Amino acid sequence: MNTIHSGKKAAALAALNYLEEGMLVGVGTGSTVNYFIDALASWRDRLQGAVSSSEASTARLRAIGIEVIDLNRAGDLALYVDGADEVDPHRRLIKGGGGALTREKIVAAASRRFVCIVDPSKQVEVLGQFPLPIEVIPMARSYVARRMVGIGGHPVWRENLITDNGNQIIDVHGLSITDPLTLESTLNDIPGVVTVGLFAHRKADVVLIGREDGVIELT
Ligand code: A5P
Repeated sequence: MNTIHSGKKAAALAALNYLEEGMLVGVGTGSTVNYFIDALASWRDRLQGAVSSSEASTARLRAIGIEVIDLNRAGDLALYVDGADEVDPHRRLIKGGGGALTREKIVAAASRRFVCIVDPSKQVEVLGQFPLPIEVIPMARSYVARRMVGIGGHPVWRENLITDNGNQIIDVHGLSITDPLTLESTLNDIPGVVTVGLFAHRKADVVLIGREDGVIELT
């Protein structure tokens, strides 16, 4: 296993410390979360179940025998565990590299504690080196892309990807996101935008960084 993957796994295993008996846990999407899901097998009989942020995570959870519950039946969750594409020192995130940003944002919003699990390669001082994913209604794709050019970004359509919600994604390159709160609000206001992959208003409460010398906890 290379350093990045051992960091992902270490962070994922550290997130098990946030579980409690009888919990209904929110589960994100991605290769880091896959380590968390695999480790949840040992908790199967002690959890009420999980609320999932993607079809991929749902399938993986069911494969180890964890019941997946619809968020509409679950109410608010005590805990959400998910990865990220970038993390800044204030625990604000870019997410959506795996295309699951909309459901991830919903489950994060419905959770009292968001524990984000990453390897050190995800740490940045200023968000935006990773292209910002934006999920759009398909007919609005070009319009939203032109608006992104207007703010100095370089939008690229993630072709051949349809999200779990039937939408499309554009990845916006070249943004230096010095004010993520304002940018998230501004982009949310553009007609046709479903979800912006900036998690600044609902940022992580805890970031677990799996480093070679141990797991660092940012709170
Ligand atoms: C999924 O849409 C993303 O938000 C993931 O959380 C993010 O891409 C992290 O992925 P990895 O854990 O695979 O690095």
